[in-house]
Amino acid sequence: MKEFSKVALVAAFLSTGVSAGALHAQTAEVLHWWTSGSEQAALGEVRKAFEAQGGTWVDTPVAGGGNARAAAVNRMLGGDPAAVFQFSIGQQLRELADQGLLANVDQIATEENWDDKLPPLIVKAAKYDGEYIAAPINIHGENWMFFNKQALEEAGVEVPTSWSDFMTAAQKLQDAGIIPIGLGGQPWQERILFNSVLLGVGGRDFYAELYSTLDDDVLASDTMGKVFETFAALKPFVDESSPGRNWNEATNMVIKGDAAFQFMGDWAKGEIIAAGVEPGTTVGCALAPAIDTAYIMTVDAFAFSAMDGQDPTPAQAKMAHVMLEPDVQIAFNKKKGSIPARLDVPANSFDACAQLAIKTLQDPKTHLVSTGLFGVPSAVSGAVDDSISNFWNSADMSPEEGQEQFRQAISYAK
Ligand code: GAL
Repeated sequence: MKEFSKVALVAAFLSTGVSAGALHAQTAEVLHWWTSGSEQAALGEVRKAFEAQGGTWVDTPVAGGGNARAAAVNRMLGGDPAAVFQFSIGQQLRELADQGLLANVDQIATEENWDDKLPPLIVKAAKYDGEYIAAPINIHGENWMFFNKQALEEAGVEVPTSWSDFMTAAQKLQDAGIIPIGLGGQPWQERILFNSVLLGVGGRDFYAELYSTLDDDVLASDTMGKVFETFAALKPFVDESSPGRNWNEATNMVIKGDAAFQFMGDWAKGEIIAAGVEPGTTVGCALAPAIDTAYIMTVDAFAFSAMDGQDPTPAQAKMAHVMLEPDVQIAFNKKKGSIPARLDVPANSFDACAQLAIKTLQDPKTHLVSTGLFGVPSAVSGAVDDSISNFWNSADMSPEEGQEQFRQAISYAK
């Protein structure tokens, strides 16, 4: 396609305000929240392949997952949907399908046999009424611990494997004048730290029971009490400039050695790679300290607005195809920090942390998912994030009070 016609098409689309699907079958507006360097670089691999196959990509980045999801939904409800939008698969996406707002890409998925190429857990979460409503592009892990090796050496500490070891290490780092934990003070990031403590202190069965049942006894249990005590004990190890900090700024603190540890999903590893650091060299990675081994998976996917009924436009069908292409799966995930959603693409060229993820996931007992994927309704997810953040940012709430308000928030929202 010639350069000038592409610009003319987009201009026509922007001036008319009519959805992309109506103007040009091969044009897709893509709404997403990938605004960091590594996220942009990774998504660029998808765009490159899409355009190489004759597609026209109209990019609509919206900073922050929550903002982007809200923008996608508001655009749909406002009758001006983005053809393709990033969304975490799970309950919240099913809520949109319930309202008939989505196109399904089941025909492409069937032709390309996604059922055999994707882990069963992802197959299940990407379907609505037995039909694919999203193209899963990766598997991220949320319970990672990234660390600056030199900072640990300077303070004479080993990589901790239990939370009590971590407290000892953090105190030594602080005494050595190093910020122990680089944290971005935003509710979703505080929840990621909390969930690593929850998994580490309670174990994988406790984590799974909590988020799959939201059971009051589990919420009120002594184990949950220990989780809040451990979480509270981490507060002194975060610097006072943490509130509001973006996750990739915290990652940079670890890359530069301004902070020793970051507890974050392996999208942080995407930033480490984008900074030219080979993961496992100056910046190391390990699963967060825990009593047993587990991997909290979160899956990025792109869903498709119903532009003209449930059938996808040619551009939407092309996008679904491109996202699951083996070469795109490799090129994208290498830059993004995640591992391929497809089980059948060779991953031996991925970095040492990715190899640890792939090895860990070979044991199905380690499979856990983030809250959304557990079918936790969006109202409860919001209550989980808010109550954890309330406790984390409160100077005087005791762990007991923190646990109780967490229990109440969930039982009220569910
Ligand atoms: C998550 C998403 C990741 C990463 C992160 C930070 O929701 O699954 O891919 O982008 O947000 O933006």
